Amino acid sequence: MASNASSQGLAGVVAGETALSTVGKEGAGLTYRGYSIEDLAEHATFEEVAYLLIEGDLPDREQLDRMRVRLQGQRGLPDALRSSLELIPANAHPMDVLRTGCSLLGCLEPEDSFEQQTAITERLLAAFPSMLAYWYHYSRNGRRIETVTDEPGIAGHFLHLLHGRAPSEEHVRAMDVSLILYAEHEFNASTFVARITASTLSDIYSAITAAIGTLRGPLHGGANEAAMALIERFETPEQAEQGILDALSRKDKIMGFGHRVYRERDPRSDIVQGWAKRLGAQCGDDRLYAVSERIHAVMKREKNLFPNLDFYSASAYHFLGVPTELFTPLFVFSRTAGWAAHVMEQRAHNRLIRPSADYTGPQPRIFIPLDAR
Ligand code: COA
Repeated sequence: MASNASSQGLAGVVAGETALSTVGKEGAGLTYRGYSIEDLAEHATFEEVAYLLIEGDLPDREQLDRMRVRLQGQRGLPDALRSSLELIPANAHPMDVLRTGCSLLGCLEPEDSFEQQTAITERLLAAFPSMLAYWYHYSRNGRRIETVTDEPGIAGHFLHLLHGRAPSEEHVRAMDVSLILYAEHEFNASTFVARITASTLSDIYSAITAAIGTLRGPLHGGANEAAMALIERFETPEQAEQGILDALSRKDKIMGFGHRVYRERDPRSDIVQGWAKRLGAQCGDDRLYAVSERIHAVMKREKNLFPNLDFYSASAYHFLGVPTELFTPLFVFSRTAGWAAHVMEQRAHNRLIRPSADYTGPQPRIFIPLDAR
């Protein structure tokens, strides 16, 4: 699209270069540094994917082991952060908790030089699940939990902290795959914000704090929570069918459907749908998955719209026992890898991101001093 013409929401505008991912590119689909999302979700772990995004290539066994040890060693939270988390009310949105926690960590362990960017990224990857779980348990039942577990990966660490016991291998794998799917997605809104912040030569905590605030909205990361609220409203597929038809006739947006870039399908959705089905069957669900499938079918039939990653992630997370308000924070745990990799890429070839606007205000006019108005 012509770069001189203004575009609503920057749709179709190429706003820079990246070597990190392709999204819906013909012949490639969704890839992270050249690897297909299908292969990564099938064979990799989230830590391998984070390493791939941050370092540029997959780790060998030794590099991965060393990274895991570093991450495990950074799950503890400084006292000042723990006491600040205790001040945040129970009815705060958990995304606000992470946004605040990220910003505060930036005061306690600031980025004094860009050479610290990888270490700080790992610190955030390790600390976000701890922050969220610490605040969650303290605000709900006054318990000051230990934020260190012996779980090898971030997926298991979070489930363990949340439920207070070691998760099953299958639940860890389901969560791990979800983290892989959420890790990176080119110039989406929150990543672009992180890059804009980095382009001013600001610090990485500011970039990630801004990205968290951007991810929070229901048109972006918040869609998984909104999708769950929708699915839970219906007791049966028949009720869901009627409810969606009513919503569409009111021209409501159905959260978890549609995408700015993908036109026919979101390749991540098929993967997470498989997990939602499997987890639902395991826990004896005979409602939520069936309702989800019906909503999917009605959206296809009525609007030719397809589910994006957020739609089936909602029921998958629910079956993993994650409370709905913690869904979007899970996205943060994962996308931190993508955001940070973009910050690093921006810094390596930086030019201030500062677009222009088409002016639509009044023509030049004569200023009349206050007393004469
Ligand atoms: N429910 C109902 N209709 C939808 C829809 C949805 N989820 N998503 C898009 N549409 C319709 C729009 O109303 C519009 O119809 P119109 O041309 O008759 O006005 C048409 O499809 C084009 O949509 P548009 O809003 O221009 O797409 P966009 O590229 O600006 O927005 C999203 C993309 C993702 C923001 C949009 O699809 C959406 O709001 N989805 C729900 C939120 C969501 O799931 N976000 C997570 C994204 S991963």
